[in-house]
Amino acid sequence: MTERRTPASDGGDRYAHLLDRLEANEREFRRLGRSVLRVQEDERRRLARDLHDGIGQNLTALKHRLAQVRDALPHGDPLHGRLDDAVSLCVDTLEDTRELSRLLRPTILDDLGLEPALRWLGRSIGESAGIAIAVEIEALPTLDGERQTLLFRIAQEALNNIAKHAQAHSVLLRLVERDGRLQLQVVDDGIGFDPSVRAQGSGLSGMRERLRLFQGTLEVHSAPGDGTRLRAVVPLHGI
Ligand SMILES: Nc1ncnc2c1ncn2[C@@H]1O[C@H](COP(=O)(O)OP(=O)(O)OP(=O)(O)O)[C@@H](O)[C@H]1O
Ligand SMILES: [Mg+2]
Repeated sequence: MTERRTPASDGGDRYAHLLDRLEANEREFRRLGRSVLRVQEDERRRLARDLHDGIGQNLTALKHRLAQVRDALPHGDPLHGRLDDAVSLCVDTLEDTRELSRLLRPTILDDLGLEPALRWLGRSIGESAGIAIAVEIEALPTLDGERQTLLFRIAQEALNNIAKHAQAHSVLLRLVERDGRLQLQVVDDGIGFDPSVRAQGSGLSGMRERLRLFQGTLEVHSAPGDGTRLRAVVPLHGI
């Protein structure tokens, strides 16, 4: 039987066609956005390595040489104190350089993967901010590098926000997979805030935009005096 075309079915076809085009454009938009993120992460990886291996190693050599000169001076030489200062300046700058390198792109993420990287992140932010950060990760399926980076960056911003704004005592970071979706929750017992007030910073909006490129979502539940619960969900497959 041949289908008879009515004006209504023509309209329906056009509508379906427009929807297809819209979806194709959105897919293309997400693909482009993800490739921008990939380029940005590659660049960060390169900078992190240059900082660590180049500047970091030169600073280490400089520190050793200064220490050698200092130790070769006769006891009581007035230059001793100046060289001591120079050595500690090298030590501080070396630590800053390593910290910057880790912030840009921690090698643990590329070398060992998301789970050890999240545990390291919790430990290091917890220690520097004086907060107890518990990290719970259920056995996860194998994740591609882009999703690992996505979840790492979300966790990094969430924990940095807690360190900067929350005055929290304890934090739980939890990553699980449910029904083909990865769920990252970060809960703190800090001072909370009103999420409906438009924020000046770009951290939360950046998280949302990143997640959108993977068809993911972000929920932020918070109220002044009531801590903050953040939940990012991203599909395991498909983009
Ligand atoms: N865990 C939290 N506890 C309390 N307040 C928070 C928390 N997370 C975010 N906020 C509040 O939400 C605001 C917006 O956060 P957002 O990350 O977007 O910006 P920012 O941290 O101020 O700046 P940026 O991330 O650009 O350095 C913060 O300024 C802070 O007031
Ligand atoms: Mg922030």
